Amino acid sequence: MTYRFFEGKDHASVYQKYRFTPPDELKNIILQYLDKKKGKPHVLAVDLGCGTGQNSRLLAPHFQAVVGIDISESQLEEAKGVPGYPNITYRKGSAEELPFPDGSVDLLTAASAAHWFDQSRFLAEACRVLKPGGCVALLDYTSIFPRLHYQDCGERLDHICEEVRQVLLPYTSNRVAVGSGKLEELYSAIPFPDKERVEGLQVNSSTSVRNLMGFIESLSTFQDYKKKDPQTAENLLLHTQNRFLEEMGVKSPDMEMKQELEYFCVLASKPL
Ligand SMILES: C[S@@+](CC[C@H](N)C(=O)[O-])C[C@H]1O[C@@H](n2cnc3c(N)ncnc32)[C@H](O)[C@@H]1O
Repeated sequence: MTYRFFEGKDHASVYQKYRFTPPDELKNIILQYLDKKKGKPHVLAVDLGCGTGQNSRLLAPHFQAVVGIDISESQLEEAKGVPGYPNITYRKGSAEELPFPDGSVDLLTAASAAHWFDQSRFLAEACRVLKPGGCVALLDYTSIFPRLHYQDCGERLDHICEEVRQVLLPYTSNRVAVGSGKLEELYSAIPFPDKERVEGLQVNSSTSVRNLMGFIESLSTFQDYKKKDPQTAENLLLHTQNRFLEEMGVKSPDMEMKQELEYFCVLASKPL
């Protein structure tokens, strides 16, 4: 079964604008792992479930070619619209049926996407297309919302996010729960003896109230909620934004606050 929660054009454009790019620290860990297991040259990276291409663009300077694969046409259209990355190609396709010859891929990544894949079919394809020593890197952040810090009201802002999470809970696919479980089952099923987990990578950055509302809007759960009741979903965003501004004692949604995200990554290398 393929899960199609990312098909809408509006959803894709919100996604492009507001989703987080994975941190450089994690990218470096992945590249060092690849260097240790397979070595250079870094020829081909394939970014599965690439969405609007945040992770594909991060990999582009380090490979001769990057191919972003996604089942959603709208997400790919947004990705293709970002200029300045001549070595990235985007292709419609699925992680369970990869359009590459046996033993041809150096690195397979999936950022916030592997929980949507059919586990056994994806792993069979990973085994087939990777070069000997080639690596898989499956990364995500551990909690749907970042922890927020603004003067002394960070905890209250986190509490508002938790309330939003509760509202969206009934719209949460059981696949999202697989992601929240840090891909434990997928990790166990990887047939390569050489595998490891990177845990607890804290990343601090800034965001604005406006961007955080955009992030909420980009969630597949929010989009599902909106499909069923567009006005209530719109009201949830507006109400949440107002509560944020009130707690922070500010008027502008462009006010910045600090955010803290925790990433994890599953790494594995095909035997030489
Ligand atoms: C949460 S988004 C992540 C997008 C991007 N990697 C990022 O980090 O922002 C998940 C993406 O996986 C795609 N997807 C879901 N199932 C897929 C499958 N079986 N094969 C390829 N892509 C898939 C969706 O269309 C969506 O664009």
